[in-house]
Amino acid sequence: MITTTESVYEALRGVIDPELGGDIVTLGMVSGVSIDNGVVVVDIALTIAECPMRGQIEGDTVRRVKSLPGVSEVVVRTTAMTKSQRADLMAVARKRARDSAELTQVHPTTRVIAVSSGKGGVGKSSVSVNLAIALHGLGYRVGLLDADIWGFSIPRMLAAEERLEADEITRLITPVTVQGIKLVSTGLIIESEETALMWRGLMLSKALEQFLKQVSWGELDYLVIDMPPGTGDIQMALSRLLPQAEMVVVTTPQKAAQKVAVRVADMARRSYMPIVGVIENMSGFTCEHGVTYDLFGAGGGSELADDLSVPLIARIPLDAAVVTGGDEGLPVTSADPNNPAALAFQRAAEILVGLVPPAQDETCTGRIAKLLEGLESQPAQVTA
Ligand SMILES: Nc1ncnc2c1ncn2[C@@H]1O[C@H](COP(=O)(O)OP(=O)(O)OP(=O)(O)O)[C@@H](O)[C@H]1O
Ligand SMILES: [Mg+2]
Repeated sequence: MITTTESVYEALRGVIDPELGGDIVTLGMVSGVSIDNGVVVVDIALTIAECPMRGQIEGDTVRRVKSLPGVSEVVVRTTAMTKSQRADLMAVARKRARDSAELTQVHPTTRVIAVSSGKGGVGKSSVSVNLAIALHGLGYRVGLLDADIWGFSIPRMLAAEERLEADEITRLITPVTVQGIKLVSTGLIIESEETALMWRGLMLSKALEQFLKQVSWGELDYLVIDMPPGTGDIQMALSRLLPQAEMVVVTTPQKAAQKVAVRVADMARRSYMPIVGVIENMSGFTCEHGVTYDLFGAGGGSELADDLSVPLIARIPLDAAVVTGGDEGLPVTSADPNNPAALAFQRAAEILVGLVPPAQDETCTGRIAKLLEGLESQPAQVTA
């Protein structure tokens, strides 16, 4: 038996990318194989140049290919994937994840936007609420899931008074509709903020699972999720339950964004969650005389966006109306639509819709109907 490039590819199907859980051939990471006089050269495109799994992938490749007959030497050349190669790889990985995903009450065509950040207090909840309001203002059906299980702040920000109720027969929970948005939060279950302490024992990911599996979300164009600050557990749970989830990263203009960038990107990659873009919050403060002060520094947002190779969706100015809007239960985007922060949120929503357009309402039957329509409008074929 002579070793051919085909048999090398077959051997490489045994090399698994441990993070993505698939083999490197299926994932499209093998960019070339050549054989010359017993020397096999394998080109592998890694997701990022400094991929921590590089050593393992190279080692496995050498071992597997060396086991083929007539191979004297294996040379592994690694490169970093281009943006489009990475997008292709994520598509394969996401399909794999989707195929093994568990059922939730969230419709598969609902666009899921997880608002995350590397650290707390940067304005995730303010961004989530105002984005949800702005998306609703654009005419979309919007759900808002407060995934900050014990640090919930959304009910206060929207002045939600109602409490969640479960259907007596189906046991499914109906979201509270507030300001046109379907809202679910632990803050709508428990009576007082003190009782929240009791929830500390509850596993975050379990609570999230309940919110996705036991809430009748109905048909939504967008589900915005206010992610809790910190660890990646909830991101992992989210991508497992909702493989279509995508992430928007919120950051402040501070230049210290670099470390956060690496953490967030890593988290997103490990959970197959694409990053849609960056929103810089608490950008320049413009005083009544029209002078802008960069109180929290400048450039952090675009730097982070560059690092992650994603667009900077918006720079939301630092504005007292964001705080009062949150405190009074009427977010600035609806309370004062001409306020600079409100305008920035509206623009952010428009850009987000451009980046993650709502799923087309095209069911299989719809497609078949269109197909038939197309056939009918064509002249009948004459067969000899
Ligand atoms: N653009 C802004 N201008 C002025 N104040 C803002 C702005 N964005 C957020 N804030 C204020 O900053 C504080 C923190 O914001 P927020 O609660 O939205 O952050 P968070 O990232 O959700 O925090 P946590 O990590 O605690 O959940 C709030 O008091 C909020 O009103
Ligand atoms: Mg918050």
